[in-house]
Amino acid sequence: MNTRVDARTQVEVSRGSIESFEADAIVVNLFRGVKAPGGATGAVDQALGGQISDVIAGGGFRGKLGETVVLYSRGEVAAPRVIVVGLGPADEFGLEEVRRASAAATKAARGAGARHVATIVHGAGIGGLDVVEASQAVVEGALLSTYSFRRYKTDGNEDGDAGSKRSVRKVSVVERSDDSLAAVARGAETGEATAAGVMLTRDLGNEPANTATPTFLAAQASEIAERYGMRLEVWDRERIIEEGMGAFASVAAGAVEPPRFIVLEHAPDGLEEARPYVLVGKGITFDTGGISLKQSLHMGDMKFDMCGAAAVLGAMESVGRLGLQQRVFGLVAATENMPDGSATRPGDIVRAMNGTTIEVLNTDAEGRLVLADALSYAQRLEPAAVVDLATLTGAIVVALGRKAAGLFSNDDALARQLEGAGRAAGEKLWRMPLWDDYADMIKSDTADIKNTSDTRPAAAGSVFAAKFLERFVDYPWAHLDIAGVAWKASGVPYVSKGATGFGVRLLLQWLREQERGGSQGG
Ligand code: BES
Ligand code: MN
Ligand code: ZN
Repeated sequence: MNTRVDARTQVEVSRGSIESFEADAIVVNLFRGVKAPGGATGAVDQALGGQISDVIAGGGFRGKLGETVVLYSRGEVAAPRVIVVGLGPADEFGLEEVRRASAAATKAARGAGARHVATIVHGAGIGGLDVVEASQAVVEGALLSTYSFRRYKTDGNEDGDAGSKRSVRKVSVVERSDDSLAAVARGAETGEATAAGVMLTRDLGNEPANTATPTFLAAQASEIAERYGMRLEVWDRERIIEEGMGAFASVAAGAVEPPRFIVLEHAPDGLEEARPYVLVGKGITFDTGGISLKQSLHMGDMKFDMCGAAAVLGAMESVGRLGLQQRVFGLVAATENMPDGSATRPGDIVRAMNGTTIEVLNTDAEGRLVLADALSYAQRLEPAAVVDLATLTGAIVVALGRKAAGLFSNDDALARQLEGAGRAAGEKLWRMPLWDDYADMIKSDTADIKNTSDTRPAAAGSVFAAKFLERFVDYPWAHLDIAGVAWKASGVPYVSKGATGFGVRLLLQWLREQERGGSQGG
């Protein structure tokens, strides 16, 4: 597949002043309520004979976050178009605002027909943000705003937006100060690598289930492994059964499409023996519910039931690009969940890799079954910490909606690290309980545990699932239930319709923080 990793917008960092920079459009900014622009915006305003001040004075622009105005320069600055983007109130300004402003500006430039967009680093001057971080956020916002999934649109170009008429081909980040140039370049590089991972995750999520099969995900993992010299191991159905992954195998039992267990390892020289960070993804490439069949309304959304796996692969792409000095594993348990003569029946009892027996009361609670074995496998790796991502429960959508993922963890330090990383990356996590008070729920009459509760109405469905997973871990672990945030348009300008790519930015933020802190695990 021709992913965004190849067909992406080019990013470049240049030294110079934005008013003399040659591009199709330049982007400057304004905080809310500012009447007389300063800094780079002031310089451009001056060159334009006060056009920006005029628009402000005329009430045409207030500086609301993401508000844009397009001005035409008639040769008074080097670029024909000038985009002014609002940063919102100065006292509410942060990296998330930078991402959104940069995305809105890039969209406005694209709408005005620009293919090469040049921007200043929002927030690095009077915004008071760290230059590296601000530059990263500018690039993330700009690149992610250009994403759309157009592979199957026959009216567009086959490589999607990157090839269509209205598309931004190049983003230049322009920095006037020599002192900041290296920092801007470093941030831009991180932003570009992160965005590439996010876009890969979106692409994988958006691909329909007749393309994005477990075999396809393994092929994607193989491409990542080849690009960055990672080690790859892929288990087929036979091996999955042989290794004792009875829970995973029971989900795959009804699927003609062959399941895959994917182990991708990034181990930089000298770190081959380090305790690894392990990312685990639920990779149900289509969830019909199995014999406990789902109703047909919205069943098509269940192609997104591999968004956890897609986030893990996207994160590994970014890890490889950045050449992170960490040992990192990406594990993916990939299969369809299908009804069939050979499918698992409600009431069947299966045995997971760690020996735990499970009564499968509902075959639609399949994510926890495949994760049970992936998490059991992770034990072998003697991990510093394990983070799993899964579109696990409808109940988390009821609890948190589409604004935050549920975070469950047996380790307070790890939970805090992830919450912080999520805040910084603009991917919110909200901690949910794993108290022992809930332990009784998962007890089974006939096996060690059961996969769903049989009481009505179902209570604490997301906690149930997390308590279930907890039985398979014996290391610092966090579980992210991303069912509410992994897909659907959000109104955020850098998040597209369909798969959002949720998780990649927060995982990268977390891994990079661990790298800097040098601490191994929670
Ligand atoms: N993949 C679904 C969870 C899901 C549902 C994600 C809707 C996003 C939107 C999962 O496999 C599932 O079916 N969970 C069941 C569990 C139930 C049977 C205990 C659910 O949440 O209804
Ligand atoms: Mn299900
Ligand atoms: Zn599912």
